[in-house]
Formats: sequence, structure tokens, C-alpha cells
Amino acid sequence: MIVEEITTTSQDETIALAERFAKRLNQGDCVALTGQLGSGKTVFVRGLARGLGVADDRIVCSPTFVLVRQYEGKIRLYHVDLYRLNDAAAEIEHLGLEEMLDDGIVVIEWADKADDALPKPYWQIEIIPTDLTTRKFIVKRIE
Ligand SMILES: Nc1ncnc2c1ncn2[C@@H]1O[C@H](COP(=O)(O)OP(=O)(O)OP(=O)(O)O)[C@@H](O)[C@H]1O
Ligand SMILES: [Mg+2]
Repeated sequence: MIVEEITTTSQDETIALAERFAKRLNQGDCVALTGQLGSGKTVFVRGLARGLGVADDRIVCSPTFVLVRQYEGKIRLYHVDLYRLNDAAAEIEHLGLEEMLDDGIVVIEWADKADDALPKPYWQIEIIPTDLTTRKFIVKRIE
């Protein structure tokens, strides 16, 4: 079910969009981000972190060498990136997603690699670059 479709025209607009989206999240919520390289997944996570009150000096970048980064805000944010997993659907079992959801919010880049292994319900946000600086966000609630 599509909840909303929004287009942003700059990185800052995407951060503002994610900041607003963060306000509807609670502990135990999982946000699955999909979209090609450079579509804006990490930028969106940066906005989520800001919306959750993570201190600005904790700059969100891609979890390159670790699979998961943790940010302390009003609600703890776990930032997962599945890009480097070969068999994400199998390996995600060992990540301890359920434990993370017990005490925080989980946002996952390259979530499509996890197939059906994500705990439902979750938010799915597909990011589609429509131009150099425009991005379409399709937000769905997967039950
Ligand atoms: N409207 C927009 N929203 C978000 N990012 C934008 C927008 N327009 C341009 N950009 C640029 O697109 C890039 C998005 O990079 P980002 O690292 O967030 O992508 P990503 O999806 O996380 O990529 P990867 O798959 O490598 O992790 C940035 O360089 C950003 O400045
Ligand atoms: Mg990224």
C-alpha cells in the first residue's frame, strides 16, 4: 500500500523530508530503504538522525566496514547497510534485528537484498532519481 509519493529537488530537501518522517517513528519501527547507488539513502538516514535528535556532530555516513552503526538520540537509531553482504537474506538472521528493534529504530540501506527476511510490519521507502538533483520517494507500509 502506497502511503505517499514525494519528490525532493535537493539534498537539503531530502534531509527535511526525512526529519519530518522521523516524527512518526517509534521504538520498534523498521525503515527499509531501496534505490540505486547514490540515490540518497544515506542522505535520508542523516535526516532521520537529525529528526530523532542525534547530535549534529555525529555525522551519519555509510557504515563501510561495519554492518551497523548506532546513534543516540531521543530514540536510539541503528543504521544498517546490507550492500556488502553476499547472502543478505541468510546473514540478516545473525544481525540481531529483533534485539535492535527492542530498544530502538532500525533503518536499512539496500534493504531489497534482505528479501522477505525483514520483520513485518515495516516502512519501505523506494528512492528513484528522476534527474541530477531530483529524487522521488515512494513510501509504503508493508504489513
Ligand atoms: N534530491 C536529492 N536528495 C538526496 N541526495 C541528492 C539529491 N540531489 C542530489 N543528491 C546527491 O546524491 C547523492 C546521494 O548520496 P548517498 O550517499 O546518500 O546515496 P546512497 O543511496 O546512500 O548510495 P550508496 O548506495 O552508495 O550507499 C549525494 O551526493 C547528494 O548530494
Ligand atoms: Mg549509502
